[in-house]
Amino acid sequence: MTRTVYVNGEYLPETEAKISIFDRGFLMADAVYEVTSVLGGKLIDFEGHAVRLERSLSELEMKAPCTKEELLEIHRKLVELNGIDEGLVYLQVTRGSAGDRDFVFPPEDTVPGLVLFTQNKPGLADSPAAKKGAKVISIEDIRWGRRDIKTTQLLYPSMGKMMAKKAGADDAWMIEDGHVTEGTSNNAYFVKDGVIVTRPLSNDILHGITRKAVLRMAAEAQLKIEERLFTIDEAKEADEAFTTSASAFVMPVVEIDGVALGDGTPGPIAKRLREIYLEESVKTAI
Ligand code: PDD
Repeated sequence: MTRTVYVNGEYLPETEAKISIFDRGFLMADAVYEVTSVLGGKLIDFEGHAVRLERSLSELEMKAPCTKEELLEIHRKLVELNGIDEGLVYLQVTRGSAGDRDFVFPPEDTVPGLVLFTQNKPGLADSPAAKKGAKVISIEDIRWGRRDIKTTQLLYPSMGKMMAKKAGADDAWMIEDGHVTEGTSNNAYFVKDGVIVTRPLSNDILHGITRKAVLRMAAEAQLKIEERLFTIDEAKEADEAFTTSASAFVMPVVEIDGVALGDGTPGPIAKRLREIYLEESVKTAI
């Protein structure tokens, strides 16, 4: 089936969608994005993603292409037109095109670019990968210093995934100044003696929408949480580990740098948090 996508005000078949070669998203990665999951045909935590998008835009002095209500309508229409029951909606806002290449930002009245498309992922909630758990490797974090802004500068995370793949693993956790920052496209956690440990929010990591929800649900379930810096060696000695993201929810991690965690299968806390997250987030999906 040809997807219907949204490009700058129009719903089009993906084969007919076009953007300018001068779009700054294309030339300079001068763009921000969001990925919102869809379960049962409804959007998970749309509000959280919309608020983070506003923040990314304002940190980069980029204009919003439309209102939050209009964005919701576009998300919903794409989900409907493409018959998505389980999957993702990708959204990208760019600084638009000034009709040429220039490092200086284009004039104030330049129209921002807006692109959205869906990804159909049947079985996203009941994923075999989550039942198996992920193997991760550690790599150096050489990304820029504003990882709290969700920009489309994804070359290094993409290279990180490839390094993992070449090493026979599924993903990479990044390390800066001896401490784990986050995964290539997710936030990172380990559990030791019943305590969930994750890095505190700062400019060093993306402020995950799933992270926020999962930490709230963990606290409600009386689980202990410590937001602090941690090393990869601490994580390797953990009872279990996991990651969170809109595209994989709570994903158990069963191996770090070749070291199996616990018995090498998904841990009880990760499994429980995945169940709670899926159950609770579907209830409030819109
Ligand atoms: N990635 N950290 C990084 C570097 C990310 O790219 C992501 C999300 C997260 C988790 O954020 P959230 O819970 O809001 O999805 C953390 C998305 C899913 C992606 O790039 O596809």
